[in-house]
Amino acid sequence: MTKVQDLDHVFCPQSLFLYGNYEEDGTPHFGLFCWFSYCWLDRLSVMACIGEEKMTKDLIRKTGVFSANLVNEPLLPLADYYGHVNGRETPDKMKHLPATERGQVLDVPIITESPVSFELKVVSEQNLSPGCDLFICRVENVLIDERLKDSSLPVIQRLELAKPVSTVDEDTYVNFFGKDLGKWGQPMGTLK
Ligand SMILES: Cc1cc2nc3c(=O)[nH]c(=O)nc-3n(C[C@H](O)[C@H](O)[C@H](O)COP(=O)(O)O)c2cc1C
Repeated sequence: MTKVQDLDHVFCPQSLFLYGNYEEDGTPHFGLFCWFSYCWLDRLSVMACIGEEKMTKDLIRKTGVFSANLVNEPLLPLADYYGHVNGRETPDKMKHLPATERGQVLDVPIITESPVSFELKVVSEQNLSPGCDLFICRVENVLIDERLKDSSLPVIQRLELAKPVSTVDEDTYVNFFGKDLGKWGQPMGTLK
């Protein structure tokens, strides 16, 4: 393997999550995010990095909680839409809504079709650079498709059931088995 120097590299495989919160009138609100990972406080916790001021960040700061719903292939058109439509500038962004239910521990919207949903409570917010903020959150609850808990099934089979979506390059969605799921901005074109 020959390696080259590339500080601007964009080859970063990441899973996608829809962060959810309730707007003031009770409407669920979602934005699409990939700068998400796990850490450990006294138990499983997560790190969520949000760049620029946006409605998702406004709502997280206001409520101190949010949900993170793993994006799977059936959710991709909606997720792509939530990632390309600015909530602050588009009052009717939530005209497209998935089936949701209330969190079981926190007052956050959970996407019924997502195979793994976290109910998150922010424990600290750190400003990293102008407009870019890191939220460290305790996982207060996890709602998971019960089939994914079946450890008698090989992990690959559970991944086939969950169908998570990843993004590798700056503009392409893929699944975990190497299938190209389209460029950013394409899947939302199939929404009615
Ligand atoms: C594939 C994809 C991944 C994204 N990941 C992030 C992210 O990790 N952090 C971020 O601040 N914005 C991210 N965005 C942009 C937000 O989804 C976008 O700003 C969106 O408008 C947020 O929703 P809101 O305006 O309703 O808050 C991503 C967009 C796409 C298409």
